[in-house]
Amino acid sequence: MAKKLWGGRFTAKMNPLFEKFSSSIETDWRLAECDLIGSYLHIYVLYGAKLISKAEFLALKKGIKSLLSDAQKGALRPDPACEDVHSCIQNMLEKKVGKAVEKLQTARSRNDQVAFDTRFYCLEESMGLHHAIFELNKSLKALAGRYASLIIPGYTHLQHAQPVYFKDYLGAYEAMFVEDAARLECFAGRLEITLGSGALAGTPIPALVYKTQIKKALKELGLVDPIYEVLPPKNSLVVVSDRDFVVELLSILAIFGMHVSRLCEDLILWSSKEFDFIELGDEFCTGSSLMPQKKNPDALELMRGASGILYGDLMSVLTTMKGLPLSYNRDMQWDKQPLFASLDIVRFETYILTQLVPAIKMKKLSIDRQLEDESLYATDLADYLVSKGETFRSAHESIGRLVRYSISYNKAIKDMSDAELKQFSRHFGKEEVLKRLDPKSSVYFKKSVVRK
Ligand code: ARG
Repeated sequence: MAKKLWGGRFTAKMNPLFEKFSSSIETDWRLAECDLIGSYLHIYVLYGAKLISKAEFLALKKGIKSLLSDAQKGALRPDPACEDVHSCIQNMLEKKVGKAVEKLQTARSRNDQVAFDTRFYCLEESMGLHHAIFELNKSLKALAGRYASLIIPGYTHLQHAQPVYFKDYLGAYEAMFVEDAARLECFAGRLEITLGSGALAGTPIPALVYKTQIKKALKELGLVDPIYEVLPPKNSLVVVSDRDFVVELLSILAIFGMHVSRLCEDLILWSSKEFDFIELGDEFCTGSSLMPQKKNPDALELMRGASGILYGDLMSVLTTMKGLPLSYNRDMQWDKQPLFASLDIVRFETYILTQLVPAIKMKKLSIDRQLEDESLYATDLADYLVSKGETFRSAHESIGRLVRYSISYNKAIKDMSDAELKQFSRHFGKEEVLKRLDPKSSVYFKKSVVRK
């Protein structure tokens, strides 16, 4: 094992099994860039507090900058023998700057580092995802635009309900995703990133030094957007012991995953022979090793199923945090696998859907065949009777009887004579009824929806 950041107090070496179990380098290495940013801010604070010399400050700054640029290029590789990302970065820095690194952990604890790193990572990820969701919505809008006048049967209880515009159907998902993006934006805006909590009790460096020095360092790094503000803590115990932000982000991801799962379910159903409403792009389907005819919607199924992982990840962190005494506890190391796994899934989902949606082709013929089902217009016929002065209750009753008659005599409403229709309402005539048995007129008569 590589050099640890502790050890003086111990006589025996760490049990190798325990050492392996406790190592987090494989998981937390993706925090390397955030850890380097945190270290960069920290050396400014140490220098401002006169705890390191100018020469030490410059050496550390140079070392951190070069590691940071490697990390940003994806060229920094972890040493698997290290305990965690924090020790690994320090060892790397030691190789670059030598003795100066011995002062780096002054007024700093990994408890504060991991709190900073994870928050910073969540901030970046939530903003990236916010952007990705808008791209996804653009592709939903593009598909809606391509089929702007297409009408499909709308469902409740998965039964034919009323005709709706396909663009409105897509708009419903777009609206859910807008909410998801708003939740992410709100999350990023509220996330407080701090430095200076130490292990739990704070550090001997005055808050003002943190404030002024961090500001300078952030400016140097080009992180000038107020969203990147980093301040000394208002309460150091809560900083090192709370993972509410992880829970909150995971809950936003779980809700997003639920929306994705519903969209996927609709598309899966629609791609079935029974519906036959859409043709999916081949590039998002797979075949069968046995049945040559198969084209399976695996991408959609994987995304539908992934909500199980997303909900599980949320439950996992909630359960880990439940009942933990203040402040930091090592249990909290288990927050990262679920956090990263959920972020990875959701990132895949947004990117894949953004490409999958434009590759969808609508099958107008089979959609139109379903629109011939007269039951879809029953409410329109009732609305018509209301417009003629009937109460809705009596109109509902009349149309109910008309539908029952049509089923029992196996006779389409459109084929009924004037006299037959008049049995159900004196306001009925063949012409008026035919006018209402039409998808275009059905959507035309829906006036309550505010269209932009
Ligand atoms: N790997 C740890 C975590 O994720 C980092 C903090 C370690 N702190 C400690 N006192 N051992 O929570």
